[in-house]
Amino acid sequence: MDRIRIVGGNKLNGVIPISGAKNAALPLMIASLLTDDTLTLENVPHLADVEQLIRILGNHGVDISVNGRRERQGESYARTIHFTCRNIVDTTAPYELVSKMRASFWVIGPLLAREGRARVSLPGGCAIGTRPVDLFIEGLAALSANIEIDGGYVNATAPEGGLIGARYTFPKVSVGATHVLMMAATLANGTTVLGNAAREPEVVDLANCLNAMGAKITGQGTSTITIEGVRSLSGARHRVLPDRIETGTYAMAVAMTGGDVILEDTDMALLDTALEAIRRAGAEITATNSGIRVVRNGAGIKPVDIVTDPFPGFPTDLQAQFMGLMTMAKGTSHITETIFENRFMHVQELARLGAKISLSGQTAKIEGVSRLKGAPVMATDLRASVSLVIAGLAAEGETMVSRVYHLDRGFERLEEKLTRCGAHVERVSD
Ligand code: UD1
Repeated sequence: MDRIRIVGGNKLNGVIPISGAKNAALPLMIASLLTDDTLTLENVPHLADVEQLIRILGNHGVDISVNGRRERQGESYARTIHFTCRNIVDTTAPYELVSKMRASFWVIGPLLAREGRARVSLPGGCAIGTRPVDLFIEGLAALSANIEIDGGYVNATAPEGGLIGARYTFPKVSVGATHVLMMAATLANGTTVLGNAAREPEVVDLANCLNAMGAKITGQGTSTITIEGVRSLSGARHRVLPDRIETGTYAMAVAMTGGDVILEDTDMALLDTALEAIRRAGAEITATNSGIRVVRNGAGIKPVDIVTDPFPGFPTDLQAQFMGLMTMAKGTSHITETIFENRFMHVQELARLGAKISLSGQTAKIEGVSRLKGAPVMATDLRASVSLVIAGLAAEGETMVSRVYHLDRGFERLEEKLTRCGAHVERVSD
């Protein structure tokens, strides 16, 4: 199994190209199930989760062709992928496939909307809490779907004539349930109004793509989304938006090591709250023509308290990385996680590098230390694993991160992007 070896101590200087967003690419790919025409997605990142979803969609009858394997030789590895689902050949998403990635559960929305039925295994995914699917079930039932859970599967059927538009207010903000309800409602009879909807940029990206396919969606980016059902959707060409989590991760890496890096092909507006926190920690952040420049010279890292929240709040997917940064702050900081109940698995691994962190309920107290020392550590989930890389970049000596398959789910060519900026990071295959 691959490991990542980091020798800490180098500043980061150079350019890092930011990939297309994993969390936008996945629902966009799933949207191809809604039409018999071709959906072409540009800027799709090359990640294990994308490959897994390609297998899942193939099982439902989506014909997939990949071209533009390297849009810009040597710099970006984004691909253009064509998805064509002439007929849905199977409305079952089996346990063997869904258990590997939670987002594959989301096929339930398009299958139900287009075929009137879906049998989808209850999901797996990152071990960061119980992550139930009650909101999906309640929301689809509001669109008049009949839903039964049997033997680990959700069996959903639409009434004769299809789903029926309705007003549904989420009791809790959920990105995935918003994606699914929005997709399902595009082909429903009548109008659906979703209240307390997720406002994440990835939801807006999906809505914009669905509209390009002929859907009638308004209000995306606000907490009330209105979807007027249409009879059918057509194909479209859509470019996946930049990955704000990858952007924030590298910005924090620069804040951690010091240096001067341009994050290319990204947009500050996607992560205002996180960038503000990094600024308060002592980095200078400015917009460039095609992205963001992050600089930290001289002065040390200042302690900053954060609380994770749904967009536009501080993203839970950057919480672990920010904790990595705070381990070397000059003072004490507090990080409160409000989205997932078990998202502090990186704490004990950071402690192996010499970090001083104590937990009290959903809040971590981080007392900054003046030095971290490299050690063998283990990646526990996707975002937690990259917090270990950030800490390793500033630690003295060698940090060896094992179980890097977690990293490969969401970070495209991480070691190459960091190495080009002067870091000492390499993949070691056993
Ligand atoms: C998505 C992101 C993930 C990010 C998360 C929160 C993708 C592929 N994944 O995950 O990276 O960390 O948003 O920004 O886009 N919940 C319920 N019942 C449900 C559904 C969710 O209680 O039916 C809860 C969850 O347990 C969690 C909270 O709602 O506590 C938010 O989860 P949600 O926004 O649904 O996360 P995902 O869409 O799975």
